[in-house]
Amino acid sequence: MPSVEIDGQRLEVPDGTTVLQAAERLGVEIPHYCWHPGLSIAGNCRMCLVEIERLPKLQIACNTRVTDGMVVRTTSDKTKTAQKAVLEFLLINHPIDCPVCDQAGECKLQEYYMDYDRQRSRFPLPEKVCKRKAIPVGPLVMLDQERCILCARCTRFLDEVTHTNELAIYERGDHCEIDLAPGKTVDNPYSGNVVDICPVGALTSRDFRFRARVWYLERTPSVCGACANGCNIEVYHREGQIYRFQPRENADVNHYWMCDAGRLSYPALQTGGRLVRPLVRGGNEFRESTWESALVGVRGRLADLARAHGPGSVGIVVSAQAPNEEIYLLRRLGARLGARVAGVSWSPPDAFHDTFLIKADKNPNTQGLLLQGLAADGVALDGLVADAKAGTLQALVLHRTDLTAWRDGAAVREALERVPCLVVLDTDQRECAEYADAVLPVATYVESDGTFTNHAGRVQRFHAAVPSPGEARPGWQVLADLLVGIDGERRLESAEAVFGALAAEGGAFAGLGYAGLGGRGVVARAGVRGSAAGVIADG
Ligand code: SF4
Ligand code: SF4
Ligand code: FES
Repeated sequence: MPSVEIDGQRLEVPDGTTVLQAAERLGVEIPHYCWHPGLSIAGNCRMCLVEIERLPKLQIACNTRVTDGMVVRTTSDKTKTAQKAVLEFLLINHPIDCPVCDQAGECKLQEYYMDYDRQRSRFPLPEKVCKRKAIPVGPLVMLDQERCILCARCTRFLDEVTHTNELAIYERGDHCEIDLAPGKTVDNPYSGNVVDICPVGALTSRDFRFRARVWYLERTPSVCGACANGCNIEVYHREGQIYRFQPRENADVNHYWMCDAGRLSYPALQTGGRLVRPLVRGGNEFRESTWESALVGVRGRLADLARAHGPGSVGIVVSAQAPNEEIYLLRRLGARLGARVAGVSWSPPDAFHDTFLIKADKNPNTQGLLLQGLAADGVALDGLVADAKAGTLQALVLHRTDLTAWRDGAAVREALERVPCLVVLDTDQRECAEYADAVLPVATYVESDGTFTNHAGRVQRFHAAVPSPGEARPGWQVLADLLVGIDGERRLESAEAVFGALAAEGGAFAGLGYAGLGGRGVVARAGVRGSAAGVIADG
């Protein structure tokens, strides 16, 4: 392994490592624009010039491989002079846009100017080359040609990752500009990524621009719940409102990218149709209830019916929208009540998918159901619906699923009408809640701690980013409260404790814990299934 010295610090690196990568490993910043770890090396911005001993000229750190004994200086006078010169060059024709530019606060031109340049411009304002501004180049992307520094990150992404080639660099010299290829629009399913990787405000998000200054936003690491891929994301939010999703790097799942559908899935998590209070039926109407009263009522009714009518008289349906923790608690509830537990994973039959990230399964946790021993094929569910219709099912708990929306609606409605006790736990007001005896509002995944297991069996953490509306509570908390008092259950006090109980059960999750999942997740034990539905060990 070659050894390199950078600013007096020595490091051994694998063959092929570039000076820029070696510096990153040492925590030494080398400013750069065009280099991106997910793209080929272009070497065109020259921002990463460094001095290398025994070489007469400065070299670009992004495309210079470390050789044994190399000595690099990133803060020498020669390097600093070059950095200033490159920034002055990039800024010659750059507009004075910072006060009105949506990239302000996360712009590499601003940041590097402050860190490496701080000179007054020698070029008179009227002589700047003007280009077109605010050009909508796709449903998600706005282009400002004047702000572009021609790093070619966007064109390389569209050439190398999506292979859709919508943008190209035209003209020459200081008239060079990014523009659409003839007849094209940046409308591929991953178009939003060009906004993320543009280091300046040349490409901005039509969804996000001018809605918030980034320095006011908080970031919470999470996992996209819009399909089974489980792309790692950052949730940007402020005062309880979500402003955007952006991808978070995970080489095992999504590298640096996410799809547009996932990126735009956040508004659906905070609609006006959210359930905000427990509702209990009184006659033909719902009345609002306290949590305590609703839980006591539901718990008592389920336990009484199960006792009176014996095993199999209660049904529980849990969808693949539920996190692992909630599936576990529902299985545990099922075991205590002698209930039949059915898993459901439903996606539109024509759901868009590809061979890159986007999966046809639009549920984040189908593998979580399977790994806990619940088939998701709908057979068990069909049995429950048939029994409900026949009048033999005494109680049904529907968790994060609206059966009326995708099964034979008429048959389901008839079945739901005939169940003596229907309990619905959900985030939003949906049709099946109209048939319920009790409706319990639960949090979305951006409002709760928990884990999803993606299509490849990777168990990944998400974290509560924003509070739930009204009195809605995390699903694990509602279920843990429901279990208290049923057959001597003790309360599990946190999502982590619930996951611990799931892991302690053995099976696919054995040996896992929140601490060990880290930011990238861990693959559950392949080929190991959990307990069969409704059969569960004491946690
Ligand atoms: S639009 Fe942005 S990403 Fe594309 S070349 Fe210009 S500065 Fe680079
Ligand atoms: S590929 Fe799936 S998980 Fe990834 S961002 Fe898109 S919808 Fe979300
Ligand atoms: S980052 Fe090295 S030349 Fe652009």
